[in-house]
Amino acid sequence: MSIIYDSNDSVFYLHTPKTSYVMGIYCEKYLLHLYYGKKIDKFPKVSEHLPVAEQLAFSPTDIDKTGACTNLLPMEYPCYGSADFRTPAFHAEYENGSAVTKLEYSGYEIIKGKKPLCGLPATYVEASDEADTLLITLCDKLTGLEIVLSYTAFNTIDAIAKSVTVKNKGKEKINIKSVLSSTTYLFDKDYDFVHLEGAWARERNIQKRPLMNGIMAVGSKRVSSSHNHSPFLALARTYATESQGDVYGFSLVYSGNHIEQTEVNSVDVTRVNIGINPFGFNWLLEPLEEFQAPEVVLTYSDEGFGKMSRIYHKLYRTRLVRGRYRDIERPVLINNWEATYFDFNEEKILNIAKKAKSVGVELMVLDDGWFGKRNSDNCSLGDWVVDRNKLPDGTESLAQKITDMGMKFGLWFEPEMISEDSELYRHHPDWCIHVEGRPRTPSRNQLVLDLSRQEVCDYIVEAVTSVLKSAPISYVKWDYNRNISEIGSASLSCQRQQELPHRYILGLYNVLERLTSAFPEILFEGCSGGGGRFDAGMLYYYPQYWTSDNTDAIERLYIQHGTSMVMPSSTMGAHISAVPNHQVGRTTPLKMRGDVAMAGQLGYELDLNTLTDEEIETVRQQIILYKEIRETVHKGDMYRLKSPFDGMNTAWEYAYKNTVVLMYFTMFARCQMGKVCVKLCGLDENTQYIEKNSRRKYSGNYLMNVGLYFDSSKEFHSEILIFDKVLS
Ligand code: DGJ
Repeated sequence: MSIIYDSNDSVFYLHTPKTSYVMGIYCEKYLLHLYYGKKIDKFPKVSEHLPVAEQLAFSPTDIDKTGACTNLLPMEYPCYGSADFRTPAFHAEYENGSAVTKLEYSGYEIIKGKKPLCGLPATYVEASDEADTLLITLCDKLTGLEIVLSYTAFNTIDAIAKSVTVKNKGKEKINIKSVLSSTTYLFDKDYDFVHLEGAWARERNIQKRPLMNGIMAVGSKRVSSSHNHSPFLALARTYATESQGDVYGFSLVYSGNHIEQTEVNSVDVTRVNIGINPFGFNWLLEPLEEFQAPEVVLTYSDEGFGKMSRIYHKLYRTRLVRGRYRDIERPVLINNWEATYFDFNEEKILNIAKKAKSVGVELMVLDDGWFGKRNSDNCSLGDWVVDRNKLPDGTESLAQKITDMGMKFGLWFEPEMISEDSELYRHHPDWCIHVEGRPRTPSRNQLVLDLSRQEVCDYIVEAVTSVLKSAPISYVKWDYNRNISEIGSASLSCQRQQELPHRYILGLYNVLERLTSAFPEILFEGCSGGGGRFDAGMLYYYPQYWTSDNTDAIERLYIQHGTSMVMPSSTMGAHISAVPNHQVGRTTPLKMRGDVAMAGQLGYELDLNTLTDEEIETVRQQIILYKEIRETVHKGDMYRLKSPFDGMNTAWEYAYKNTVVLMYFTMFARCQMGKVCVKLCGLDENTQYIEKNSRRKYSGNYLMNVGLYFDSSKEFHSEILIFDKVLS
């Protein structure tokens, strides 16, 4: 059992293989956070451990005449209204106008396994002995509010999944203004706040800054996890590296508005708050109703960022992603977007497919522009009916012809959107998100459907279903190309308008659940103008995500490196495109473009008919190499050996079973800089490894301590080396 309650000391222990999370009950009422970190055996009684008798001037000491100061206590689930003046996890208004909540411990339950979250994505178990779950109930006696804190400790993975359920067991309505998913504490402030910052086509740059007293936060108010800040935070010792030092990870399994916040108080204790962004949030909870807050997955690594990422990779690849594509190899695809944009017809697509098939590509994806009268991005979203001018015999015929060639066929959709110039908008102008009397500001000429409405969700499911049933379609690219403004719903009451951001996400999850379970054979790939909603919530529905609209090999090194902080390589869509690159104009060699894309789910996004015979042979060899290494890359332990954010070169290693794949890239060359030494990680010291091309043998000890040297004098140089263990 990985969860223990010591009733003598009133202490809860959650153990994973190498970590412990500890809470205690103080004065029989207050649930306090005591510890999270390297595995420990025993904790003293709460009263012996905490500086509870200390006081802060101007902070009322209201804990049962013990002299304890609430503003110092590490409340496990702090609520607004007491003398704790830090940012609370819970804040609500009651019918009498009061916003004071007082939560007291009321009981616990330990269950085997892990239950799904109602309406929300979450990590899961396949057998009840994979994890244990602790449910702790806190109550506010005056209002009948009950809060259940859920903690799952995984038995073989160093992760703790937390979530929160709010139950209104009183007689009056409760207006929830903030309900975060996790509060934890670090008992000093010598950490860096590490987050993933970005923009369209420049997603997930790693940023670090030292914690400061007061509040630091990142998040999103776009009703989307966004290109700009991922729902993720790491707090790392200032000396932490890829392989050393304490790192705490917090990853929110949610795709809407989020916040990751630290608050360091005057005695340098750090409170860490993660959850739905309270800004623009409100939820009216009627008596007997419940509200489920999303899951946040915590990790602790005593071996730097690398180990933190490997924990997330394993958990998310095996126990967040679902469906038949979780474990099987996925097809190498070709997508026509950068090859044709909106300017295609059946003949062009068939030509692209035919050439691709001849070099080993397995799936042809028809991107935007196949429906309505969509010759540019200014119309037809919502009208999911084939454009007979471009495809006179329909998608059925095209899909059949491609299937007959021996390839699979896939289709692009952007189902959450509506163009003002569409039949759907002419029939249902109130189906979009809008505020009566205010302008409906388009972005990329489109508005967003109101997914808080059941009939709108049903329309999307029916429209997409009817296309998917009409033809042999094996893959869907689900795009989402704007963020939401003028937030309002024609169907919600005025008291519930602020519920729309979360209701939108619940509606989206419901639509995705219905479609992915109705079509289990179809591979769904998520997309939001590239990686705009590439979050852990989405991985529950899509096993892979289009990482970025930026397909330049150099830019992709930064983007894929940052993305790998949390996301496994098996989830990153990565395509080889034409040069000069359409986003940044750079010309990189086909080899380098291929080597970078092989670190994800490989695809092509150009017309291969435009390549020379020599280039076509390179493509053929790329696909052969990719098929040889993909299991190692997708399922292996990833080591980020050199970071593009630190210099001119990047190196990634993937180790799985008896094989190791090493990828090396020189981004920019500078003269007389010497060779670059890359030391591998995670090998068996005393085992011999043979490098496939040169047939040279090296010991694990040599590769990890002496390392290999790479030429850094050639711009855009890349190498992929495969090592096999020499088994005696
Ligand atoms: C944005 C996506 O990220 C692109 O790959 C492409 O599908 C376009 N949308 C199509 O409009």
